[in-house]
Amino acid sequence: KKIAVLFGGQSSEHVVSCVSAANVIDQIDKEKYDLLLIGITEEGHWVKADSVEDIRSGAWRESKVDVVISPDATRKCALITENGVTREEKIDVAFPVLHGLYGEDGTVQGLFELAKIPYVGCGVLASAVSMDKLYTKIIVDTLGIRQAKYVPVMRWEMEKDMDIPVAAVETHFQYPVFVKPSNAGSSRGVNKAENRKELIAALKEAAKHDRKILVEETIVGHEVECAVLGGGQKPVKASGVGEILAAAEFYDFDAKYNNAESRTVIGPELPGNSAEAVREAAAKIFNAVDGYGLSRVDFFVTNDGEVIFNEINTMPGFTAISMYPMLWEAAGIPKPELVDRLIDLAFE
Ligand code: DAL
Ligand code: MG
Repeated sequence: KKIAVLFGGQSSEHVVSCVSAANVIDQIDKEKYDLLLIGITEEGHWVKADSVEDIRSGAWRESKVDVVISPDATRKCALITENGVTREEKIDVAFPVLHGLYGEDGTVQGLFELAKIPYVGCGVLASAVSMDKLYTKIIVDTLGIRQAKYVPVMRWEMEKDMDIPVAAVETHFQYPVFVKPSNAGSSRGVNKAENRKELIAALKEAAKHDRKILVEETIVGHEVECAVLGGGQKPVKASGVGEILAAAEFYDFDAKYNNAESRTVIGPELPGNSAEAVREAAAKIFNAVDGYGLSRVDFFVTNDGEVIFNEINTMPGFTAISMYPMLWEAAGIPKPELVDRLIDLAFE
């Protein structure tokens, strides 16, 4: 069978996706699947990569072989163009290891729906809702699960009169607050603001990433994550809980990927029965957004054991420091088996 693995992409998490994809490819059973590696440059150009080494080195970006997935459901193929000649290669299943916009937000998922090619992970709706933090909040509110209080700010509002959103934030919250683009991943464009000046700067920065911005209250507590696997006919499984010990003020992009001092702990000590509450909430939220296949659901646990939802990632990272594969490994599912299960789920 042929598996198309997509990586890179047009989001601010392009580099993270390349790392995740290389790790996923390492785990794919090569006896079972032939690989077609499709890299998407930051400009959105789709090219064929020759090997996982080319993904790791970045050499794939120089590829002269163009490849696109045809939306034609009667063909179920990739169109590969080399030296002006185009050939067709059938695809049995796709694994979009893409994080962020144009990959984890339902757009690529929509292409595979049109093409009727099975694909790993969440569908269009779950991807779109989960990528948009404002919409996720609306869904999670209906479940009665606590989440950080927030004020939505639209880019046009700030452009018209910055004083209005600033006043809205200051009426609801004490500093510090967190400012986040509604659609972003790996904490890109996310900033903590300690005062009005920083709030304005943070709003402007977030507005570079999205036209919708959330300003959230600061939650003090453990930052924890839970992995979800399954869907469809079978009840979904929630893994144990992992905790992030960020080396920086918060788990921003640098603290995540560039700071070796940041640590993760699987099965941390948490107050009361909050770990169990996290697992239950993770499965509930996954189902509520119509999740399928996989997701990692992130929470805070306060010192008195309150569980507060933070966000859901429908294509969580697979880097060396990523919690999703680590949580399943701790639960007795080694990485090759995990990847195999995820691909199997695409066919169900
Ligand atoms: N958005 C990053 C890749 C994550 O959630 O792991
Ligand atoms: Mg994320």
